[in-house]
Amino acid sequence: MERIRVNASAVYDVVIGSGILDKCGELTREVTAPCRVCIISDDAVAKLYLDTVKKSFEKSGFEVIEYVFKNGEASKNISTLTDMLEFLAENHLTRSDIIAALGGGVTGDMAGFAAAVYLRGIKFVQLPTTFLAAIDSSVGGKTGVNLNAGKNLAGAFHQPSLVVCDTDCFKTLTREIFLDGVAEAVKYAVLKDKEITKLIDTDIAETVRRCVGIKRDVVADDEFDTGSRQFLNLGHTLGHSIEKLSSFKITHGHAVAIGMVLASGGGEKEGITEKGTTAEIIDILKGFGLPVSCSYSAAELASVALGDKKRSGNTITLVIPERIGSCKLCKTDVAKLEEFASAGLEYGGQS
Ligand SMILES: NC(=O)c1ccc[n+]([C@@H]2O[C@H](COP(=O)([O-])OP(=O)(O)OC[C@H]3O[C@@H](n4cnc5c(N)ncnc54)[C@H](O)[C@@H]3O)[C@@H](O)[C@H]2O)c1
Ligand SMILES: [Zn+2]
Repeated sequence: MERIRVNASAVYDVVIGSGILDKCGELTREVTAPCRVCIISDDAVAKLYLDTVKKSFEKSGFEVIEYVFKNGEASKNISTLTDMLEFLAENHLTRSDIIAALGGGVTGDMAGFAAAVYLRGIKFVQLPTTFLAAIDSSVGGKTGVNLNAGKNLAGAFHQPSLVVCDTDCFKTLTREIFLDGVAEAVKYAVLKDKEITKLIDTDIAETVRRCVGIKRDVVADDEFDTGSRQFLNLGHTLGHSIEKLSSFKITHGHAVAIGMVLASGGGEKEGITEKGTTAEIIDILKGFGLPVSCSYSAAELASVALGDKKRSGNTITLVIPERIGSCKLCKTDVAKLEEFASAGLEYGGQS
């Protein structure tokens, strides 16, 4: 069991280890007195882990209530959130009670948002069960839901009081869902730490520690996403376009994998990225079974990206690798995005 301390507007620990889910109760006692806890989970995760978590909380003196919703991104909306908030109110959860988010990023984002707004904010703990949630969404305090107009368009910054990450939970993930996390781990490798790519298959706990360590540093530096936190968008600008163009049939991590190839390919053409980097990234992604190419045109990719919320004025900030382990933020004229995407496609991103 290892702890990584996050120093944001709130200070909290990310506890990482194998088989530690049944310690969540006693770990939570370190951040709050015994109280009522509402465990929020989706139906698929609840079947697998709710019992363990409930017993652990009860053993540590908490009184447990449960809110379970249907699994999947489609549930991440205002209507589920409203239902969740009504449930908390009907059960008279008070400001000294807490929420425990047990599940992947959908659960964490939504339960975190409920914690941010219920009674103007109560404490919550994150119990991530997907690889992606462990290394990305459970740390950093971004919470929210999707609107019809787009993903994550309503939300709040609300830091958890604790994150407990049991790496054994990943054993029950399908390969495809695990791979969504792998793409984000490769993102951290390309941003800061090449060795991560070798650890994914050999030491998953160390992979989580390193990825969370990088996210911790970024969040400590720019919690509210006005500067350096943008580095975490590597592969995401064009990746989001790919997700949308596929009507979300290509899942987030898979789209980000292709997005990283495009960012690196475009960067090579512009002379920002060292030659050979894109080929290396392609090899790494292919080695895990992640996609590296898509069938969309540069014009399609650019036009969808420019409709996105990340745009500011006439420029868009792209994260471009210099080499694996180091990236740069590049302000790019919106008029040049299509040309950039087209260069990326030439480097192997087109199928
Ligand atoms: N807040 C942030 O900073 C941040 C960062 C990245 C992504 N996100 C959000 O995270 C979401 C994606 O997260 P996700 O991929 O974890 O999705 P998810 O929560 O939908 O989980 C994916 C699927 O895996 C199932 N599942 C979860 N854990 C399991 C386990 N241990 N065993 C078997 N099945 C399990 C779930 O029931 C679900 O069907 C998106 O909504 C995205 O916007 C947020
Ligand atoms: Zn992502």
